Amino acid sequence: MIHQQPDAFPETFLWGSASAAYQVEGAWNQDGKGPSVWDVFTKIPGKTFKGTNGDIAVDHYHRYKEDVALMAEMGLKAYRFSVSWPRIFPNGKGEINEAGLAFYDDLINELISHNIEPVLTLYHWDMPQALMDEYGGFESRRMIEDFNQYCVALYKRFGDRVKYWVSLNEQNYNFNHGFITAMHPPGVKDRKRFYEANHIAFLANAKVIESFRKYVPDGKIGPSFAYSPAYPLTSHPEDITAFENAEEFMNNWWLDMYCWGTYPQIPFRYLEEKGWAPTIEPGDMELLAKGKPDFVGVNYYQTITYERNPLDGVSEGEMNTTGQKGSNQETGMPGLFKTKKNPNLETSNWDWTIDPTGLRIGLRRITSRYQLPVFITENGLGEFDKVEKDGSIQDEYRIDYLRSHLEQCRQAISDGVDLIGYCSWSFTDLLSWLNGYQKRYGFVYINRDEENENDLRRIKKKSFYWYQNVIKTNGENL
Ligand code: BG6
Repeated sequence: MIHQQPDAFPETFLWGSASAAYQVEGAWNQDGKGPSVWDVFTKIPGKTFKGTNGDIAVDHYHRYKEDVALMAEMGLKAYRFSVSWPRIFPNGKGEINEAGLAFYDDLINELISHNIEPVLTLYHWDMPQALMDEYGGFESRRMIEDFNQYCVALYKRFGDRVKYWVSLNEQNYNFNHGFITAMHPPGVKDRKRFYEANHIAFLANAKVIESFRKYVPDGKIGPSFAYSPAYPLTSHPEDITAFENAEEFMNNWWLDMYCWGTYPQIPFRYLEEKGWAPTIEPGDMELLAKGKPDFVGVNYYQTITYERNPLDGVSEGEMNTTGQKGSNQETGMPGLFKTKKNPNLETSNWDWTIDPTGLRIGLRRITSRYQLPVFITENGLGEFDKVEKDGSIQDEYRIDYLRSHLEQCRQAISDGVDLIGYCSWSFTDLLSWLNGYQKRYGFVYINRDEENENDLRRIKKKSFYWYQNVIKTNGENL
């Protein structure tokens, strides 16, 4: 579809940027906060790049006013952040830690006083360790009620000021690493447990959306999905089948459940045959049907290309967590699909495919299948940045990446996608869960690395000024 003149971004468009508590806050054991699974997991030798953790991160907990002032200077219209559950309930449930609520109260008020719309993520992976110890987190149905209690506490406290809420962040990515590659907590490799835990997370997601309708009736809520639209490597019918398998298992499995409350039939049947299908108890489907979101949150970084994979084919491959280009390996599900490098596209130093048009394709697929508004809750480029002798950071490559993706957003809007906002990942540099501090995403450089916290000084990159102008012109000057 070629448009003579693409439509403008809507006047109400939420020009935003995003972060997550564990990746920016630090203050991991202060003011009554309990440990999260990441506080514990990152301390196990060999789990993260150079043993990095979020104990101090970029110290946003103590410097949030400085960070919000920078957002205001940029003209940001929305800031997506997550709440650390163990800051609110140090043991995951029971008594509320008032100091934890007070921190987010202050942050939200600071944002609003600068005309920045807060977008609150309820769960960005930092589960209270206490719940993992007590019953295995999302492997137990007890999680549904405990998660609901925590979310209701936030609805009651912040529902008067926060309109946009994200329920679960990237359940698909987090659980894939938690239960298939063992690279995230709980560090398990077991497909049956993967699908069972996912089912419980779907129930928890639906439950907190059901509660949301009661406590924040005028608000908007949706999950953020790590969406990598699938491509076939070739037009060979077996590669097309592999691509369709990948769409069903890697995307529709989550999106259908979030948007329709049902599992796609073809993968479900396959999982039943393998003995991996989730256990569906009476009442589950009724609850799942109540989880319909107001928007689909999309975290888009790349498309993934697939080809046929024989029954004795590839399953696991090493993931590039060092920035050594070319070190990523193929992965797959034998008999279904395997990943392949797309010969038409460039990649970042972490071997993530750079594909702006893939974003448009993904937005259109969601619109056609679910007819729901979309909120891009993450999109960005993780790269090495260099501070020049004059103290500047010339991150042209990041500007190119963001510009080309925003151009495709505009095309998608012209195609008929109801796109309500765009949050870049991320506002400041932050801790990348598995890749340390050297994989930078921010508009604002943080003067720290894996070995030293240095002075944690904030330095505006070239992209800061570029995005400032994009917002000022409502996307006319990209
Ligand atoms: C998403 C997450 O997976 O992508 C973020 O929601 C994460 O928390 C981001 O940081 C980029 O991933 P990475 O692995 O490069 O840090």
